[in-house]
Amino acid sequence: MQNNTFSTLFVGQNLIKLLAVDSTNNFMKSMVSNSEPLPEGTVIMAENQFQGRGQVESKWHAEPGKNLTFSILLHPVFLAPGDQFRLNMAVSIAIQRALGALIGECLSVKWPNDIYFGDKKLGGILIENIISGSRIKASIIGIGINVNQQVFENDLVSRAGSICQILQKDVDLISLLAQICSHIEVAYLKLRAGNYSNLRQDYLNYLYRFNVKANYRQNGEVITGKIIDVSERGLLSLETEKGVLSYNFKEIEFIQS
Ligand code: BTN
Repeated sequence: MQNNTFSTLFVGQNLIKLLAVDSTNNFMKSMVSNSEPLPEGTVIMAENQFQGRGQVESKWHAEPGKNLTFSILLHPVFLAPGDQFRLNMAVSIAIQRALGALIGECLSVKWPNDIYFGDKKLGGILIENIISGSRIKASIIGIGINVNQQVFENDLVSRAGSICQILQKDVDLISLLAQICSHIEVAYLKLRAGNYSNLRQDYLNYLYRFNVKANYRQNGEVITGKIIDVSERGLLSLETEKGVLSYNFKEIEFIQS
């Protein structure tokens, strides 16, 4: 099971490459629920993910063979379900660091965990947890990164971007996957060791539109405000003329400027 491309202890050491699958998250979830013995850190990647899922029941589109679409299996049994946002923060920070080494500045995390370059979305994260009693028994970390895709269709044209558009050259998918796995492992081991001291501050440092006045939509109404905090549980705090308002995911939508 030793994977020599990955200089990790366990994340990515068991790498399952699929030519085509509906969704790597679905595939991994069914393996886990059928009690397939998968070691922690197993990565399932797909060359062609034809029914990728995103947050809020959206779809994740990725041109086959050009992008990273993969899922990582973790067992964060040390986290109570109420603390699951810690894993979101850790994974978002890890991806920022991995991509930052390649791209440099202008990367950010759009709350809760979209990966942005300027105002373009480069990637997204879909974490699905399997809860048992008061613990998170398994976590399927689904990650999609636009890597070598040059053309985006329809409504994605103005909103999505890719690494090759930024760097003006193609990037090796497996090397990038290895870098991401390595940063996720470091962040995860820190969480597992109970070291949360800088987690939220690091996340806030990467946050898209942090402390910037911008427009948002809530229940069809446009509100102007500044993101001033994200709580331990993942609630977004917006400073508005009505005071500081707090939002759960799905309750508020960013309006692109
Ligand atoms: C989002 O931004 O809405 C989250 C997108 C997550 C996409 C990834 S691609 C690999 C994994 N499998 C899926 O079906 N979705 C995630």
